[in-house]
Amino acid sequence: MSLVANWSYPTSIRFGAGRITELADACKAAGIARPLLVTDRGLAGMEITRNALDLLEAAGLGRAMFSDVDPNPNENNLEAGVRMFTDGGHDGVVAFGGGSGLDLGKLVAFMAGQTRPVWDFEDIGDWWTRADAAKIAPIVAVPTTAGTGSEVGRAGVLTNSTTHVKKIIFHPKILPSVVICDPELTVGMPKGITAGTGMDAFAHCLEAYSSPFYHPMSQGIALEGMRLVKAYLPRAHADGSDLEARAQMMSAAAMGAVAFQKGLGAIHALSHPIGAVYNTHHGTTNAVVMPPVLRLNRQVIETRINAAAAYLGIAGGFDGFYEFVMQLRAELGIPDKLAALGVGTDRIDEMVGMALEDPSAGGNPVKMTVENTRALFEACI
Ligand SMILES: NC(=O)c1ccc[n+]([C@@H]2O[C@H](COP(=O)([O-])OP(=O)(O)OC[C@H]3O[C@@H](n4cnc5c(N)ncnc54)[C@H](O)[C@@H]3O)[C@@H](O)[C@H]2O)c1
Ligand SMILES: [Fe+2]
Repeated sequence: MSLVANWSYPTSIRFGAGRITELADACKAAGIARPLLVTDRGLAGMEITRNALDLLEAAGLGRAMFSDVDPNPNENNLEAGVRMFTDGGHDGVVAFGGGSGLDLGKLVAFMAGQTRPVWDFEDIGDWWTRADAAKIAPIVAVPTTAGTGSEVGRAGVLTNSTTHVKKIIFHPKILPSVVICDPELTVGMPKGITAGTGMDAFAHCLEAYSSPFYHPMSQGIALEGMRLVKAYLPRAHADGSDLEARAQMMSAAAMGAVAFQKGLGAIHALSHPIGAVYNTHHGTTNAVVMPPVLRLNRQVIETRINAAAAYLGIAGGFDGFYEFVMQLRAELGIPDKLAALGVGTDRIDEMVGMALEDPSAGGNPVKMTVENTRALFEACI
């Protein structure tokens, strides 16, 4: 089967190895003549990034990059990016990277034309309607990891550098208008990032699948996304140059983000404060907290997980599924406890409060309380 396609759902996606060569054309399709490429510091010096800049320059679209972006991007990164966008007279953004570069790129395109502070656009009720939608610049997204699915999402995660709280900033118009999913770009990901980002995609599918809301479309996408991760993440991890596995993981990542419009849950509610306080990698953190969250939710999701196990070809229903998660984590070298990521017990009280306030908490199948959330943190650390 050839893993090359053009999709129009949930946005225009050019999928296939080598399709980064269409970057300039994608900018033109999005109406961008003077793009600012936004990425993170790590990617700034890599060949895939230089190549993308070369492609833009060769097509007469200039060569401009903003890369002052932290792993869990914050409002200072955003402010600097917006300044460069405005000073440089840019008319659109090429958001290039993992979730960090993609999210910050999307937020630069969003905030360049707004007068209110970014925190006014947190994903609460209809706060997004406060924005001047006409002033949002077009976005072309190019993922270089296969995890967050931010390339097909309508949100960007931003950490408040003073309060250390991760906020989800939402606007329907920051869904990139054109996406290039080129699995060749992910070939150079180190093993640890391949594992962590892949488990983020799995967490999105699992939490969406388990959340109690009515959304059969997302339900189906989440189930197939889990199957792809099961079949291809171990392969992508074992041999980074396995392009079929890289491509299937890139699909799984996009599917996770489409699916989690249905809701997330305690994995993300815990992972957000941990990431904000200790600056841990998001997907790796999700993988560590996954088993205790499955145990907490078992009473409510057992029947549903039995069905998922059957679809994934796992014997033994919920127990088999749980065992599969434990084995996958071990195979990928994910640590068993958060202590291995530098997380201590001294700030549990604070993180319990943050987890309960996290927007993902409401999607957990079992209602999150101070007691069960504290117990989860204790079990994970
Ligand atoms: N918008 C959303 O819906 C959403 C969902 C989940 C997570 N997030 C956010 O995304 C961020 C995490 O994203 P991530 O897991 O993709 O990690 P990341 O973007 O932080 O990247 C991790 C590291 O990998 C490097 N890297 C990226 N691509 C590479 C490649 N192809 N080759 C070599 N190195 C590469 C980066 O330079 C960085 O050092 C967090 O800030 C998280 O909050 C957003
Ligand atoms: Fe996530």
